[in-house]
Amino acid sequence: MGEREAVISLSKVTAELGGRPVLRGIDLTVHRGEVVALLGANGSGKSTAIRSVIGQVPTTGGGIQIFGTPRRRFKDWARVGYVPQRTTAAGGVPATVTEVVSSGRLSRARFGLMRKADREAVTRALELVGMADRAKDSVDALSGGQHQRVLIARALAAEPELLIMDEPMAGVDLASQEILAATLRTQVAAGASVLLVLHELGPLEPLIDRAVVLRDGCVLHDGPPPKALGQHALPGHDHVHPHTHAAAEPIRTGLLS
Ligand SMILES: Nc1ncnc2c1ncn2[C@@H]1O[C@H](COP(=O)(O)OP(=O)(O)OP(=O)(O)O)[C@@H](O)[C@H]1O
Ligand SMILES: [Mg+2]
Repeated sequence: MGEREAVISLSKVTAELGGRPVLRGIDLTVHRGEVVALLGANGSGKSTAIRSVIGQVPTTGGGIQIFGTPRRRFKDWARVGYVPQRTTAAGGVPATVTEVVSSGRLSRARFGLMRKADREAVTRALELVGMADRAKDSVDALSGGQHQRVLIARALAAEPELLIMDEPMAGVDLASQEILAATLRTQVAAGASVLLVLHELGPLEPLIDRAVVLRDGCVLHDGPPPKALGQHALPGHDHVHPHTHAAAEPIRTGLLS
């Protein structure tokens, strides 16, 4: 794996927010074609770490490279799809589903003009997340999980080589999670690399190559995904043997909270 090209590389990255250290020397690498899950308790620095990659958070030390280029000099953002962590209501002017997803395609559309190929990419992205039938609806009329799927379609519309997603499964029901897992599988099969923040591996578990666990702004674990984590989201999760369950509990909490 050492020789494989790194599409994201963080080395000893530090960052402060509100005068407090939030990232305290993070090393994180995503190789081409890899799916890396970023895990950790609330406030451990997951969103800050990925926002530092896309330049939304200033760093105070260390180095960040994207596709082998120092982030400050990286220009080719059309190669990167980003799905932000969903906060509360969207607010502002209500847009249609198609408008929101099309905004993700603008980086690819020449002179900002949506051509046939661009419109087709938007339709394809909506089909991938199972929202094609809602294309003309206002995003205000969507549920939280549907809104999340539209944000993912927006990132997919640019057909990025690198997908960075902050808790794409949050507020998404299990059926939709399965759709998103299939979507991601398609992207990865086509050669995409993925860095995503998750709280549970859930249906994505078979796709995850590596997990990086943060605690208090530091990397606590970098390696195989912690096994116990997917357990709760599995359809056949065993409620019959409370002792087995209790035995698994310290592993879960030890790593993640
Ligand atoms: N804009 C900000 N100003 C000040 N502090 C911030 C800001 N954004 C985040 N923080 C702090 O930085 C720390 C890390 O936040 P971050 O959002 O990266 O955590 P997270 O791991 O993504 O958590 P969650 O699982 O809740 O999304 C937290 O203590 C948070 O309070
Ligand atoms: Mg976060």
